[in-house]
Amino acid sequence: MRFDIITVLPEIFKSVFNAGVLKKGIEKGLIEIRVHNLRDYAIDKHRQVDDRPFGGGEGMVLKPEPLFRAVEKIKEKENSRIILLSPQGRKFDYKLAEEFSNFPQIILICGRYEGVDERVREHLITDEISIGDYVLSGGEYAALVIIDAVARFIPGVVGKEESVKKDSFSLGLLDYPQYTRPREFRGWKVPDVLLTGDHKKIEIWRKKKSLEITLRKRPDLLEQKELNEEEKKLLDEIKKEISSEE
Ligand code: ADE
Repeated sequence: MRFDIITVLPEIFKSVFNAGVLKKGIEKGLIEIRVHNLRDYAIDKHRQVDDRPFGGGEGMVLKPEPLFRAVEKIKEKENSRIILLSPQGRKFDYKLAEEFSNFPQIILICGRYEGVDERVREHLITDEISIGDYVLSGGEYAALVIIDAVARFIPGVVGKEESVKKDSFSLGLLDYPQYTRPREFRGWKVPDVLLTGDHKKIEIWRKKKSLEITLRKRPDLLEQKELNEEEKKLLDEIKKEISSEE
């Protein structure tokens, strides 16, 4: 799968792909990431990529011509996704990450300045995506977030495929707590059940903890999830335990 980033700040990406899961994915030939300087697609000798807004106002707006030229040059596949990163976009989540992972090419346009000429939104992109309700100085960090989350869904990028399937959200629940050595640290002990070696018991404990953590931190996720009989029973137990705490 190929990711193409269009940016006026290519320096940001200098070393980020030289470590971790993305580096491995690149080395295995599963993903390819290219960074394109928008100025290389400017149409004038000053390599101008932005201009003042018609109608007046503060700040600068990214011009349409360099962006159209860049995308038309870079786009290799009929069914490429062309994503504009902006705080006004659809909120990114794991479902979108999984959906994007099925496309052969994703072109990420990093918005900057005060905005982007509206004709880019209307006639060039396939998606406008936000990574959250806050304003970043540009779409560069948002592009990185999207690439990392999407790449994890490409088989082979993450060591064991299983670990992505078991990730928080893929199962509709938050993760259960994990512990490692030492068994006791500053008087805080690892829960006994994890030391029993009884896999069935451990599995039930983990499921119950996942449900409890999701109920406490993200009850909205539970509303969307269809629970099986065992999960319903565990959730009832948790609710009773919580109400007896209060
Ligand atoms: N550019 C600026 N803010 C952003 C956000 N929240 N998500 C995506 N791109 C952005």
